[in-house]
Amino acid sequence: MPPLSTTNSTFPDQFVWGAATAAPQIEGAAFAGGKGESIWDRYCRIPGRILKGDTLDVACDHYNRFREDFALMRSLGIRNYRLSIAWPRIFPKGDGPVNQAGVDFYHRLFDALAENGITPWVTMFHWDLPQALEDRGGWTDRVTVDAFATYADTIVKEYGGKVKNWITLNEIRCFTILAYGPRVNAAPGRTVSPQQLNETYHNALLCHGHGVRAVRAHGGKGARVGLTDNCDTPIPVTETEKDIAAANAWFVERNLHILDPIYRGSYSPDYLARVGKDAPTVKPGDFELISAPTDFLGLNIYTGFFVRACPGAKYEDLGTHDSYPRADSKWLKITPQAIYWGLRLAHENYGPKEIYVTENGCGYDDEPVVNDEVLDLHRRDFLRGYLRELLRAIQDGVPVKGYFVWSLLDNYEWADGYTRRFGIVHVDFETQARTPKLSSRYFAEVIKLNRIV
Ligand code: NOJ
Repeated sequence: MPPLSTTNSTFPDQFVWGAATAAPQIEGAAFAGGKGESIWDRYCRIPGRILKGDTLDVACDHYNRFREDFALMRSLGIRNYRLSIAWPRIFPKGDGPVNQAGVDFYHRLFDALAENGITPWVTMFHWDLPQALEDRGGWTDRVTVDAFATYADTIVKEYGGKVKNWITLNEIRCFTILAYGPRVNAAPGRTVSPQQLNETYHNALLCHGHGVRAVRAHGGKGARVGLTDNCDTPIPVTETEKDIAAANAWFVERNLHILDPIYRGSYSPDYLARVGKDAPTVKPGDFELISAPTDFLGLNIYTGFFVRACPGAKYEDLGTHDSYPRADSKWLKITPQAIYWGLRLAHENYGPKEIYVTENGCGYDDEPVVNDEVLDLHRRDFLRGYLRELLRAIQDGVPVKGYFVWSLLDNYEWADGYTRRFGIVHVDFETQARTPKLSSRYFAEVIKLNRIV
């Protein structure tokens, strides 16, 4: 048999391979160690909001099992770990007194990562707003911005010696429009006016700015910072000039309210025309804060929307038939090209110095452990397909420097509770037993060889 070709499947040297999680989805100990209530702790108790009424109370019990989890990561050769800090563990009420037990917990956690040779990539905020801040207005009010500024300063000062890679916020869209918009599906689940909804984005952008400011002020030598966005991603239905131009127009229109202020320091005339009288309140100094230079852009890319050129319009948005291949998460159409186009269009429109795919993965419901194995061939194929398109983006000049699979562990998938599994490691939520799935072995091999296998 001739040798298998590897020429087009090798990643650049120093490519960062990692796995991602978030505190509320894995830690559990929701009311232990002095932690305050988060909006998700409250929201998950509203009848009918979460599949099967699942709560975050125990989750993967990572709070008590992080050492075991890090040893498992090490055994898989995963040397980079994206995690989040739970704001209500540090400030139970959002601001005011610091909870020393929470501060100490993350010190132990970062020490355990170091012992296992794993580099932390820390998200400051992954949706678990302290409920006390929501009671004072939440994301609609600048009280949250002021509290976040103090929180960011506190954690960067505290952990700056152990953490060099910081991510300010995760997916602004999800904790604003899905949480305060007309069709809520996330905590706090409070529909506000269109004007207030626009304030939620603006306040989130201000928090991003404070996160960057905190890292520059207190992060120490070598500290780096960026946002993780989940830009909406179009796929030109054919890779022809006209469909690509249509996809680009779609990308700009859908993403300008978040990426323009950060990369261009203003809201574009198109955005201001779109929101009209409902524009957010901009105070002097806001855009200087929001647009402070970052070191990288994090992108979470899972799925895309097909778009083509259309006479007389900027683009035509093509729907997808019900039988289009999907994961069990219905929103997740299996579209590997999305990762190529998402990365490429972000690069071409905004030119971030570096891009990291801070999440990519797929959720399925029924992944039984049989004889100590989980044969998730569907996830292995998913990853392989997306990695090929990621590599194509690099080969076409996009400065992608790393990839984090979502997720290390099956975990609390928000409104889908524990039913939907995204992990490369299976978690039995009754016994907390961990079983590495076939996809984790696959990913370990990719990391070891630094190429698609
Ligand atoms: C993005 C979010 O950041 C993460 O929390 C979520 O679980 C995954 N997408 C999968 O839906």
